[in-house]
Amino acid sequence: MTNKKITLTDSDGKSSEFDVLQGTHGPGCIAISDLYKKTGHFTYDPGYGATGSCKSAITFINGEEGILLHRGYPIEQLAEKSSYLEVCYLLLNGELPNSSEFDDFSDTIKTHTMVHENIRDFINGFRYDAHPMAMLVGTVGALSSFYHDSIDINNPEHRVISAHRLIAKLPTIASYCYKHHRGQPFMYPDNSVSYVENFMQMMFAVPAQEYTHNPVAAKALEVMMILHADHEQNASTSTVRLAGSSGANPFASIAAGIASLWGPAHGGANEAVINMLENIYNSGETIETTIARAKDKNDPFRLMGFGHRVYKNFDPRAKIIAGLCHELLDDLDGDQPMFNLALELEQATLEDDYFRERRLYPNVDFYSGIIMRALNIPMNMFTVMFAMARTVGWISHWLEMHSDPEFRIGRPRQIYTGHAKRDYPS
Ligand code: CMC
Repeated sequence: MTNKKITLTDSDGKSSEFDVLQGTHGPGCIAISDLYKKTGHFTYDPGYGATGSCKSAITFINGEEGILLHRGYPIEQLAEKSSYLEVCYLLLNGELPNSSEFDDFSDTIKTHTMVHENIRDFINGFRYDAHPMAMLVGTVGALSSFYHDSIDINNPEHRVISAHRLIAKLPTIASYCYKHHRGQPFMYPDNSVSYVENFMQMMFAVPAQEYTHNPVAAKALEVMMILHADHEQNASTSTVRLAGSSGANPFASIAAGIASLWGPAHGGANEAVINMLENIYNSGETIETTIARAKDKNDPFRLMGFGHRVYKNFDPRAKIIAGLCHELLDDLDGDQPMFNLALELEQATLEDDYFRERRLYPNVDFYSGIIMRALNIPMNMFTVMFAMARTVGWISHWLEMHSDPEFRIGRPRQIYTGHAKRDYPS
């Protein structure tokens, strides 16, 4: 990939040389697989901030310049011109589909939108007040018990069928998690409408009356889904790869990714943002006291929806969603005061040295909750929405990993800090 080498010399004067690998874009990576063999040392990188775990051709991020590309296409162009299902095809296959490829793909997804009837019973077994993410993680894991006819990970056809099943069934399962929580009947999928419209119909329709689609809402959700479709080696995607690296089936691997996404430092942040804004809006908290708490190192509170491991300038997805809020909140009858409050909070951080010095800017989760509220999606479903949109990213990485000749089980090392060897008391 490059002729560049890096030489490491230890304090005893012993030198070892390492290749520097260069991708299409981005900084070079020092290939250290033989580091231990050559030097007798491991690397130490908690949080993997300086570690590349794989080669990937799916997504590229430049955090300094706020660039996000899927298969080379800028996220801004995909959000404006593409559809979620087309982005799914792109992520899975590497190229945009022509119209007959798109029709075939769309038909394939439609053949898999229903779930086994027993899955409905399975979801009905959860407590009425279960968190939808708890139901989602359990139900997606359980898919391997319903679709075990196609989970031979060494069979390329099985891998693709499982990918299609996951993309097709996630909206159905997500809507069932919501319906169970609401105590409303589950709605069957309707393949005569688009992927996004079908999801909204399963969420909000009831058998007693006709459902009317709202094109503005469908458009907003379509863009939101595109913005969440993939984000290279984040915690949940890395979890999917690590779980899958042992040979775990795709449903179990994606369930692992959903569990990782749930945390408030990752996908759970969108729910936490609205809680934080509501606190400012309804209780004694103000923007000033909220910012002061976020800066106080004795307080575990962080400003939710701010900061990112990779983006150190701006998150391009947050820019697009903020634009969407400006465009659509009136049409969607959204919570304009909440959006204005979010804008004020962002402005206050831009003027604050703590946030400027640490380069903490709004991330995708800061504005996404405002759009979701305008779509009448309840707060405890926000992370489910993220999981539904991200499933295609996870499964694309899982598929890529399984066709990578360098792939082997993920097994990090450690610095052992426990007791030195000692004898069991006699
Ligand atoms: N509020 C206040 N201080 C913060 C925040 C925040 N949101 N984020 C980072 N910092 C501070 C942190 O305390 C540290 O300060 P110091 O240098 O004085 O110790 C510095 O900034 C660097 O933080 P870090 O923890 O080393 O950064 P990280 O790359 O490990 O964490 C993050 C990234 C996204 C987990 C973190 O910024 C955070 O917790 N943000 C709030 C939760 C959030 O919005 N998560 C959504 C992430 S984007 C979508 C997704 O991945 O799902």
